[in-house]
Amino acid sequence: MKKILLTGANGQIGREIQHLFPIQQERLVALSKAELNIADHEQITQVIKAYQPAIIINAAAYTAVDKAESETELAFAVNSTGVKNLATAANKFHIPIIHLSTDYVFDGLKNTAYVEKDERSPLNVYGSSKAQGEQYLQDILAQHIILRVSWVFGKYGHNFVKTILKLAREKPELNIVADQIGCPTPAADIADVIHHLVEFIEQGKAKWGVFHYCGDQALSWYDFAKQIMSYAETLPGFICQRLNPITTAQYPTPAARPKNSVLSTKKIQQEYDILPANIKNGLRAIIDNL
Ligand SMILES: NC(=O)c1ccc[n+]([C@@H]2O[C@H](COP(=O)([O-])OP(=O)(O)OC[C@H]3O[C@@H](n4cnc5c(N)ncnc54)[C@H](OP(=O)(O)O)[C@@H]3O)[C@@H](O)[C@H]2O)c1
Repeated sequence: MKKILLTGANGQIGREIQHLFPIQQERLVALSKAELNIADHEQITQVIKAYQPAIIINAAAYTAVDKAESETELAFAVNSTGVKNLATAANKFHIPIIHLSTDYVFDGLKNTAYVEKDERSPLNVYGSSKAQGEQYLQDILAQHIILRVSWVFGKYGHNFVKTILKLAREKPELNIVADQIGCPTPAADIADVIHHLVEFIEQGKAKWGVFHYCGDQALSWYDFAKQIMSYAETLPGFICQRLNPITTAQYPTPAARPKNSVLSTKKIQQEYDILPANIKNGLRAIIDNL
């Protein structure tokens, strides 16, 4: 049976992808950072020779947006050189790649939703490293799908939903940034989309290139926090009574962030018949799970 190689298998999205191949476990070779460091070119070649995968899914990344400002080299080693390494090896062995990327490749100055052909112009180190990774993949390997997603949340790892639920048990009121907008995306839905893309590739029906995929509402962090609270208010130990909208300037962070992170999902809908993720269902699923 042809194998699928998953990198970054212990990440937020990687773990969701693992759920989708449960009865075909021998199909998915899911490798954590300890098992495959994508910054190490030699390791990639060894793994590809050992498993001979038919498809590579790259969910590995350096994702600490603020820390990246002071760990520039490491962010680029993983998000840029790591992707170059994967692309080079995949090209040598004729293996297509599904690669995850981000809304942070844009500067957020556009007034409408970003489309796939908009020029990349990242504001921070993380976004720059991801943008360069995309470019390497595009230059080296024709058979690639770059799936840009935004504001990911789910039951695994660190994310905004889990942070709000934690803080709502600790503080009576919370200040939340209200002047950055984006489309939160459930990690489980991203995994579903990737599963779908794998099927298209296996059937020889893939359409290569960049695609945007995200949730079905454009929200500020403040709006999103309100939605989270409305689902979670029945949870035990909830003491937060009030959310206060604040500006980005009132909440300075090491990395600048785009004001507009909204991605247009028209292309993936037209070419793959994939609809945006339902944010409310995604929230309900994670809160029920907790
Ligand atoms: N999270 C978001 O809001 C968001 C938004 C837009 C796009 N994305 C993109 O979605 C993808 C997956 O993100 P995620 O949220 O699942 O991130 P995540 O939870 O941080 O997972 C990334 C995984 O990659 C691993 N990793 C780090 N360096 C590696 C290396 N050198 N070799 C192999 N694995 C390495 C990490 O391991 P350690 O944890 O052990 O370091 C982690 O398990 C990334 O491409 C990210 O840029 C995420």
